[in-house]
Amino acid sequence: MSADADAAALRNRMLRNMTGALELYTVYLGERLGLYRALAQGGQATSAELAARTGTTERYIREWLEQQAASGLLAVDDPAAAPLDRRFSLPAGHVPVLADLDDVRYRAFNGTEIVRAARSLADLVEAFRTGGAPPRDAWAPEGRPDYNRATFLHLLGRSWLPAIGVVDERLRALPSARVADLACGAGWSTIAIALAYPLVHVDGFDLDVDVIAAARRNAAEAGVADRVTFFAASADAMSARYDVVTILEGLHDMARPVAALQVARDVLATPGWVVVADELTEDQFTAPASLLEQYHYGWSVVGCLPAVMGDPQTAATGAVMRPATLRRYAAEAGFADVEVLPVDADTLRFYLLTR
Ligand SMILES: C[S@@+](CC[C@H](N)C(=O)[O-])C[C@H]1O[C@@H](n2cnc3c(N)ncnc32)[C@H](O)[C@@H]1O
Repeated sequence: MSADADAAALRNRMLRNMTGALELYTVYLGERLGLYRALAQGGQATSAELAARTGTTERYIREWLEQQAASGLLAVDDPAAAPLDRRFSLPAGHVPVLADLDDVRYRAFNGTEIVRAARSLADLVEAFRTGGAPPRDAWAPEGRPDYNRATFLHLLGRSWLPAIGVVDERLRALPSARVADLACGAGWSTIAIALAYPLVHVDGFDLDVDVIAAARRNAAEAGVADRVTFFAASADAMSARYDVVTILEGLHDMARPVAALQVARDVLATPGWVVVADELTEDQFTAPASLLEQYHYGWSVVGCLPAVMGDPQTAATGAVMRPATLRRYAAEAGFADVEVLPVDADTLRFYLLTR
């Protein structure tokens, strides 16, 4: 390709990406204001009807509806009708992605994630210069995306863990297994394990006091508060004995992953297993890389690496934690074996660590 053609293609790509970013901001508005859910539940609406349904202002809603229809996220019955008469609807295929929080295909939280990621960018410019970490993002949990909620609730205990024979067997057996779920975030994995395995008790650990408070509320609502306990504490602070330790999309987020794995190994019963799920990366650095690898790298630069740069002893892993890195961390922590598991988990790769 000539340099001119290359420049033209890149300009197009920037326009496409810019449009995509703006679209995600409008998805953020739709999700936060309940606009998609109102369309899914109440059926097609004019701008005035949707505004009335959601307690919002007609003029803003009209512009949002037109933009959503122009982008193909919503359907409009008659584009030629007068603006106030047009009726907009959420196509059936878009309902699970934009309106149904319980569906594993739900992605409206992407809008929230992209807005949230942008908040720390100005501080990140400075952090790139100083080598430190931008200040912690103190968004309230209510404002946070529950990005793993549906997948963990539907798939972790019903499909992914059952695919790991020895672990599944122990979780179903007596005496009741004790599970530690490290970097548990808002507790969806912890809750999913308790729901899938009625005998077990699960302790969730996360550094972030706000997400732990949300996790406690989530567990109470899910009816498992009597079998899960949450600790606002670092993974390496645990001391009880556990049959299974899980670290689900959390190891690369730890500044000191080897320390966490060492403690996990120390607290394991015999037999005992550590189950790690982390990003499904390429085995080695590749450029240009797959879309998924580009996605993981994007999060790594703006979120996952900055989050761990404040610790003077950080391993500075980043989101693109390859199997070789995990194997090195596990060996340094004293594990005898790391098995990459044939669990089909979309964007995650599962590992089984044994002592
Ligand atoms: C990307 S979030 C994942 C949360 C959850 N596992 C999920 O998939 O929804 C990573 C979490 O790791 C937590 N974290 C980082 N370092 C930790 C540590 N040393 N001990 C416990 N939690 C930690 C962060 O507070 C954050 O909630």
